[in-house]
Amino acid sequence: MFERVSTGIEGLDKMLRGGLIKNRAYLVKGGPGTGKTILSMHFLVEGANRGERVVYITLEEAEYEVRENMEALGFDLSKVEIVDLSPSSENPIFKGLIGGRLDVETLEAMLNDLVGKDVDRVVIDSVTMLRVASDSEVNYRFNLLSLMKALRGLNATSLLTSEMESKVEDYLVSGVIELRVIDVKGKPVRGLRVVKMRGSDFDENVRPYKITSGGLVVYPDVSVFEV
Ligand SMILES: Nc1ncnc2c1ncn2[C@@H]1O[C@H](COP(=O)(O)OP(=O)(O)O)[C@@H](O)[C@H]1O
Ligand SMILES: [Mg+2]
Repeated sequence: MFERVSTGIEGLDKMLRGGLIKNRAYLVKGGPGTGKTILSMHFLVEGANRGERVVYITLEEAEYEVRENMEALGFDLSKVEIVDLSPSSENPIFKGLIGGRLDVETLEAMLNDLVGKDVDRVVIDSVTMLRVASDSEVNYRFNLLSLMKALRGLNATSLLTSEMESKVEDYLVSGVIELRVIDVKGKPVRGLRVVKMRGSDFDENVRPYKITSGGLVVYPDVSVFEV
C-alpha cells in the first residue's frame, strides 16, 4: 500500500507497522529532555545512510550545540544538512515573524531558498519557537498552517517537534508520537506512545524507551508496567 520510511529506531518502526508513511508530516511531542531532538536525528541519519538528502532546521538550539550533543551520542552528522534559524543566528525569520503573519508564499519562498526542492527528509525542531515568535495564539495557528502548506510543497517526509501540551498541532499532521515520563508505582519511566497515525494500523500502547549512549531505544514488546 503506502511506501514506508524507517525512523531509524527499530522498536518505533515496529509500533508504526513498518515506519512512517512517505511524504507526510509528523509531530514529535514531549517536554524538555524527553528525546525529541535525538529521535529526529535517528530519522535523519537513517535517511542519510540510505543516500537520501536530509535537512535539519533548528529554531531552538544553535547549530554548534546540536552538533556537540548529537556527536556525543555517536551520531555522524557529516551528511545531515543543518539550517540554523535559532534565535542566536543571524537569520531573519524571527524578525519576519514577530508581530505578524507569514503567508504561505513567503514561507514557500523561504523554504525553497533554505532547503531547495530535492529533499527526502526534513526536521523542524521545534515549532514551539514558532509559537514564541508569533505574537498571539491566532497568529501562531496561521503561521503553523502556512508552514504545513509550504512543507507539503517540498514532497519530503517531515518531522516537527513540539513541547506544547496543546492539541492544535495534532490536527495538521498525519501522525503524532508522544514522549513522556510516566509514574509507574512511584518510579519514573520513559514512555513512548503513538497517538495517531493516519492511513495505518499502529500499536496504541505506551511502550518503554531509554536514552542510552547510542541514542534512543524503544521496547515494542514490553509493557511500561514491566520495567
Ligand atoms: N549518554 C546519554 N545517556 C543517557 N541519557 C542521555 C545521554 N545523552 C543525553 N541523554 C538524555 O537525553 C535527553 C536530551 O535529549 P534531547 O533529544 O535533546 O531532548 P529534547 O529535544 O526532547 O529536549 C536528556 O534528558 C539527557 O539526559
Ligand atoms: Mg530538542
